[in-house]
Formats: sequence, C-alpha cells, structure tokens
Amino acid sequence: MKAIIYCFSGTGNTKMVSEFVKTELDKRDVETTVFSFDYESYKKRTYPSPNDFDIIAIAYPIYGFNAPHLVNRFVKVLEKAKGEKQCFIIKTSGEPFAPNHYSSSIMKSRLRRKGYRVMEEKHYLMPYNIMFRYPDELVKQMYIYAESHAAIMADKIVKNETYLLHPHPLYYLLYTLGKLVWIGGPIIGKTYRIKKKKCTKCTLCIKNCPMSNIREGKDGYPHFGCHCMICMRCVMYCPHDAINAGILNAWKVNGAYPFKKLLIDESVNPNYVNESTKGYFKAFKKYFDCIDRELKDAELSLKNS
Ligand SMILES: Cc1cc2nc3c(=O)[nH]c(=O)nc-3n(C[C@H](O)[C@H](O)[C@H](O)COP(=O)(O)O)c2cc1C
Repeated sequence: MKAIIYCFSGTGNTKMVSEFVKTELDKRDVETTVFSFDYESYKKRTYPSPNDFDIIAIAYPIYGFNAPHLVNRFVKVLEKAKGEKQCFIIKTSGEPFAPNHYSSSIMKSRLRRKGYRVMEEKHYLMPYNIMFRYPDELVKQMYIYAESHAAIMADKIVKNETYLLHPHPLYYLLYTLGKLVWIGGPIIGKTYRIKKKKCTKCTLCIKNCPMSNIREGKDGYPHFGCHCMICMRCVMYCPHDAINAGILNAWKVNGAYPFKKLLIDESVNPNYVNESTKGYFKAFKKYFDCIDRELKDAELSLKNS
C-alpha cells in the first residue's frame, strides 16, 4: 500500500508530526510520502496525484480555530478519487481546546464530495508559534506525546478504523469567528516591517515564504506583499531578528523550538503538565491523559490479537 501526506506547515510543527506518522506507517508496510505544499505548488498544480496512492492525508496547523485558507483551497482543487480511497487528517495546534476540532469541517465535506472516505482525524498538540513561547519541559512532553499519538494513528489507519472528532455545536460560533484570520492575514501582513539596522539582506525570508509574499525591493531589503497568511515562518526563522511583525509584534516567537536537543537533554523533565498542574495548562492534562488511555487500549488490542 502507498500513502501520501499533503502537508502545509508554517513553522515546522505540522511537518514534524507528518514525518512521525510517515515513520509509523512505513513500519506497518505502508510506503508513505510527505509532500509539503505551498502557494506555488498549489497555483501551478505541481503536486503528486492522489490517484497514484491508496491512502491520502491532509496535514495543517490550526489558525484561529480554522484550517489555513490555502489548505482549504488546495483541497478544493485536488483531483476526485478514482475508486475507493481512504483519507485522514492531521492537525496541529497550540492548545487542546475543542473549538479547534471544527477546523476540518470545510475540507471534510469537500473531500467526501470528491469521493474520499474520511476515516480519521487526529489533533496534535504542539508548541505555539505565536503569542508566547512554551517552556522547554512542555515542548519535550509535547514531542514525546506526538510520537506516541502518531503510532496510535497509524495503527487505526492500517486497521481501517474510524475516528472523527465531534465537537459541541456551541463551539461552531468561535470557529466561524476565527475565519477572520483569512481576511486579517493580508491586512496584518502589510504591517510587517524590516529592521534595516539588523537585516543583512540574506533573503532567507524571501526564499522561505510559503505564500511567495516577500520580494526583494530595489534597495535590496525584503518587502511584504498582500498575501500573508501570518504563518510566522519569516519571523521565527529570521537569523537576525530583523522582522517587526507589525501589530502582532508583541506575539512573536523568535527562533525555532530545539526539539531534538531537548529530547536528548536529560536535565529537561518532560513532565511539565501533571497531576498538580493548575491554571491555563490544566486543560492539557486531559489531552495527555486521553493519549495515555488510547496507548493502553492499543497495547491491549495488540496483545489480544
Ligand atoms: C495566525 C495563527 C493563528 C493560530 N491560531 C490558533 C488557534 O486558534 N488555536 C490553537 O490552538 N493554535 C493556534 N495557533 C498555533 C498553531 O496552530 C501551532 O503553533 C501549530 O503547531 C503551528 O504549526 P506549524 O509549525 O506547522 O505552522 C495559531 C498560530 C498562528 C500563526
């Protein structure tokens, strides 16, 4: 069997989770490809055909309780399924709150109309790439849980099991309001500025922008266009912290999360969220407990089979 994960990732979290799922599917004899798409590959339709695979997946980060506009547009132009085709959805977000579950509604109905059998969706908790930086202990905990979660997901995929999220209808309101990100992105993106004293004109932001929204001006400095989707890639990866994120500047998270380094650093205890956690992070406990339960069930069924 062959699978493809069409992945959009702003700052790398969703790409990393997609790779986890690929590793787990490969282990289960499903030869899996992760294809990262951006505006160019969407516009020029330069992506592998879903009909060359038995299973397809869509992977994306949640923006304002929704899927990024580009991802919904990508699904809209995807070829119809020829024959029976299983489909699953991978989403990552900074918090585990249920309104996030609605983010796949548009794409799920589009995929079904195109003949795909949407079997499974998994919501992976990953560090925020906007607003504030998560502490190292929590980042490590999220990484470890995401790996386990990917194994559970791969297991369900090969067993053809269905797992769809059904949030409370009240959350629909928040999800609808979140669509403002689609309009807000281009407006907010226009407020981005280059700090000329820090910018070395390395052009990394221009090369990296998934919307091809940054171009080199006559003065050699990057200039921002009108198609920003506020994925924060340019901001997070600027090696000189030379981008002022306009009205979002107070929410900027500088520098990538050092996942691999944290993983081998034994002084970082991946037990940030635990029985005694209070306040904002308490909701995270429920999410981790749920994965622990699923892991136990999976182990049980493995033993019984
Ligand atoms: C513009 C924007 C809006 C976001 N909105 C939400 C949100 O509504 N809920 C949430 O849990 N996380 C939200 N996040 C956090 C991202 O979903 C999260 O950090 C994700 O893992 C980023 O994935 P990526 O690295 O693949 O881009 C938002 C991030 C950005 C940049």
